[in-house]
Amino acid sequence: MAQFIQRFHADKSAIRDELLSGLQEPQAITSPKYLYDALGSKLFEAICELPEYYPTRTEAAIFDAHADEIAASVGRGRTLVDLGAGNCAKAARLFPVLQPAHYVPIDISVDFLRDSVDTLQQRFPAMEITALGVDFSAPFALPDHVGPAQRLFFYPGSSIGNFAPADATAFLARLAQAGDNDGGLLISVDLVKAKPLLDAAYDDALGVTASFNLNLLNHLNTVLEADFNVRGWQHVAFFNTDQSRIEMHLEAKAAQTVRWRGGQRHFAAGERIHTENSYKYTAAGFAALLERAGFTLQQSWTDPQGWFMVCHAKASGNRP
Ligand code: AVI
Repeated sequence: MAQFIQRFHADKSAIRDELLSGLQEPQAITSPKYLYDALGSKLFEAICELPEYYPTRTEAAIFDAHADEIAASVGRGRTLVDLGAGNCAKAARLFPVLQPAHYVPIDISVDFLRDSVDTLQQRFPAMEITALGVDFSAPFALPDHVGPAQRLFFYPGSSIGNFAPADATAFLARLAQAGDNDGGLLISVDLVKAKPLLDAAYDDALGVTASFNLNLLNHLNTVLEADFNVRGWQHVAFFNTDQSRIEMHLEAKAAQTVRWRGGQRHFAAGERIHTENSYKYTAAGFAALLERAGFTLQQSWTDPQGWFMVCHAKASGNRP
């Protein structure tokens, strides 16, 4: 029988303080995690279906083409710790080859996981499942019955790209220290490629990514009791070649003052709120980041065009 453990409880005043301090910076900034309210999560699912957004289907093709090699590299019967599991679909597709002994899907809310986990448990009745509601971007402990032996952390979707490289290193270093040498990390990363492909993936013709970005303002209106006028802003996304990252911004179409409970800010026409970075790596650059975090790359798999990479790494035992 699946177990559900909720450890994360949103601290509304801390969220408010974090958002307001970012919005009051000279160059306003918000964390990308605030793009994912209920509607934002649905819009992200739609992004994954877009012809321009190659990462989701490219990753799925890599998993399909190399499933047996991946299983041979990571080993079968592991404790599969799925970071940001969502609907558990990516891990579930790998169950037949990975045959995990214990599946630990983690998301900020176990309620997101409940339905998918119940269905999974019916499909794989012998598998132990522990669903955990934690914010895994901050240090967290796994429950005692999820022993450290043979833990395989699973971090698909190239979500590591949404951390700045130093933060990605610190996050992965915590994972390197949390497992043993038989387990490791199965992680995906998006690779550097021609700018027009990258620009289009984050600024699609249908405007779904624009809606995903603009929806942040609806979320801010709710959380901050603010009066952002969504129609007064536009989506801006581009590959910043020097920084090797996609930048997403919201740009004020005209001068305006936005008010929230307890404060306000004036935005000049053209002024921006920086809402997300999505770093793109070279294969060698990502292997070096893994090394800095205390992992050694075991094997990696890419698609024929070299757009996306899935990596298996093991803790090297060297503390960063
Ligand atoms: C979740 N993350 C890996 C996505 C990305 O590609 O950075 C988020 C996203 N933002 C706009 N489109 C997709």
